Amino acid sequence: MNGLTVEHIPVLAEKLAEQINLPPDGVMVDATIGHGGHSLLFGKILGPEGVIVGLDVDNNAICRAQSILKDLICKVILIHSNFSQITEYVRKQGIEKVDFILADLGICSAQLADAGMGLSFQTNMPLDMRIDKRLKTTAADIVNKADEKSLADLIYNFGQDRASRRIARFIVQQRRQEPITTTGQLATIVCKALKRPGQKRKIRIHPATRTFQALRIAVNNELDNLEKLLASAPDLLRNNSYIAVISFHSLEDRLVKNNFKKNEGHSIYRVITKKPIVPTREEIAANPRARSAKLRIAQKV
Ligand SMILES: C[S@@+](CC[C@H](N)C(=O)[O-])C[C@H]1O[C@@H](n2cnc3c(N)ncnc32)[C@H](O)[C@@H]1O
Repeated sequence: MNGLTVEHIPVLAEKLAEQINLPPDGVMVDATIGHGGHSLLFGKILGPEGVIVGLDVDNNAICRAQSILKDLICKVILIHSNFSQITEYVRKQGIEKVDFILADLGICSAQLADAGMGLSFQTNMPLDMRIDKRLKTTAADIVNKADEKSLADLIYNFGQDRASRRIARFIVQQRRQEPITTTGQLATIVCKALKRPGQKRKIRIHPATRTFQALRIAVNNELDNLEKLLASAPDLLRNNSYIAVISFHSLEDRLVKNNFKKNEGHSIYRVITKKPIVPTREEIAANPRARSAKLRIAQKV
C-alpha cells in the first residue's frame, strides 16, 4: 500500500476555525500541509488577494495537497521543506509578515499506511521512519548500531517508556542473531521484552507504541524542529495574528505550552487557550486519530 488513497480528516478543524479570524487578503502558513485538510477550510475564507504557503517534509504530501487545493481562488504556494526553516522559505516568497501560522504535528494516516515510510507496527514494513527521504539515518540504523545505553535513553526520553532498559537489552540481544530490518521484527521484540508472566492488567495501547514514537522522534529530529519553528514564529507574525499548534504527545505539548507562556511573559503573545482545546467524544468516535490531540493558540500582540 502506498498510502495515497487513505482518507485524512483534519483534527479539531471546527474548533480552530471558531478561534481564528483570517482576513480575505490574509497570509496563512500551513507548516504541515499534509492532505491540505486545514488549508482547504481556511482557503475558502481567503479571496484572490489571500495566500497560503504550505510546507511539508514529505514530497507525496505536497503532491496530494496540490490536487486538493487546486480550486481555491487564493494563491497557493507549496514547498517541500522543513518548518524548522519557515522564515527562510516564507521570506523567499517576498512575504515579510503573516496572519496565521498553523502546525498540525506528527503524521497523516496515509503516511502510517505507506510501506515506504516504515512507521507502522500493525503492518510489517522495512524499518525506515524517515518522513523526509533526504534524511540519512533510518530507524533500522539506530536500532542496529546504537549502544544499549543510548537506545535505552532514547526510548525513555522520547517514548517515556519506563521499561526502556529492558527493551534496549532485548533489542541488543536480538540483533546479535540477525539485523532488525522490519517494523514487525521490532514490534515482536518489544512485545517479548514487555511480557511479564502472569500479567493480568489490560494494556490500553500496543506495547510497541512508545518505542516506535521514540524512534520516529529521533529519526526526524521532531522536537528540535518544533523548537526552531516556535522560536521563528514571533518575527514572522503580524500584530494581532495567530499561531496554532496541534500536538499529539506530551513532549510536543510541553514545548508549545512553555513557549507560549514565555512569550506571553515578554508581552509578545496573548495566550488564547489557557487550557488546550481537545476533541469531543463525537470527534474521537468519527476520527480516532484525534484521540490525543491538543490544540494551543496564541495571538501576537
Ligand atoms: C498530521 S499531518 C497534517 C495534516 C493536515 N493538517 C491536513 O489537514 O491535511 C502532519 C504533516 O506534517 C508533516 N511534517 C512533519 N514534520 C514536519 C516538519 N518538520 N516540517 C514540515 N512538515 C512536517 C508530515 O509529513 C505530515 O504530512
